[in-house]
Amino acid sequence: MSVSPSPVPPASLVSALRAAGCVFAEDEARVLYDTARDEAELTAMVERRAAGLPLEHVVGWAEFCGLRVAVDPGVFVPRRRTEFLARQALARTRPGATVVDLCCGTGAVAAVLAARSPGRLHAADLDPAAVRCARRNLGPLGGEVHEGDLYDPLPAALAGQVDILIANGPYVPTGDVPLLPAEARDHERLIALDGGADGLDVLRRVAARAPRWLAPGGHLFVETSERQADAALAAVRAAGLTARLVEDEELYATVVVGTARHAGPA
Ligand SMILES: C[S@@+](CC[C@H](N)C(=O)[O-])C[C@H]1O[C@@H](n2cnc3c(N)ncnc32)[C@H](O)[C@@H]1O
Repeated sequence: MSVSPSPVPPASLVSALRAAGCVFAEDEARVLYDTARDEAELTAMVERRAAGLPLEHVVGWAEFCGLRVAVDPGVFVPRRRTEFLARQALARTRPGATVVDLCCGTGAVAAVLAARSPGRLHAADLDPAAVRCARRNLGPLGGEVHEGDLYDPLPAALAGQVDILIANGPYVPTGDVPLLPAEARDHERLIALDGGADGLDVLRRVAARAPRWLAPGGHLFVETSERQADAALAAVRAAGLTARLVEDEELYATVVVGTARHAGPA
């Protein structure tokens, strides 16, 4: 932005953010300062941030695996932890692969795969605002974004063709939702957070129908929590996939990787 010739955010900006309770005030000041186009916009952004809006909703974007991803109001902010899921999926994605991102939110995970390993890309979400946002992020990368419940809106022709199936759906147990930070509770939709009694409702539904959509040897990637890992693995195995757990301690990330069996001899 050009409100001042100085490339460094003013100390008063950092102080205002710190006073508002922002733990990473310097980093946030830099983001706001670089994004605002003039002094008035900067002031308005600081006010919205101080009122508790997530930084990504204030500026309208999030950085995810080195990409700048558009984040519209109310749409789930892609988490740093989910970069681990994206990297796991990317490592298994061959150029030209058919990729599906269910519960796509902004489409951040799909965007990483499309940007780094272009192929055929479909994404879907139940929330119309997420679908609009994902279209902004994935349209320029050649992705098609559908609106509806899990697999329902996907083109039928994709059945049995999906090499990489990603599903980072809601997985917070209902009883834990009130314990989430206010930023999430107040500015992200309940449908993006609440995974049912044990948090695994969506995961079970995704896993149960995955074999019908995966190509032989295709992979399913689902983020879960350490606490839910055993039950999540069991759900994926119960659907007939082989399953294993991959974890990243630094990001506190837990991912279940399910794999469809190759067709046996006729
Ligand atoms: C935790 S957010 C994750 C968003 C995105 N995958 C990410 O990693 O940033 C969960 C998303 O699942 C969507 N969702 C919840 N239930 C769904 C359903 N039954 N079918 C499709 N999408 C659903 C929500 O609207 C939300 O965008």
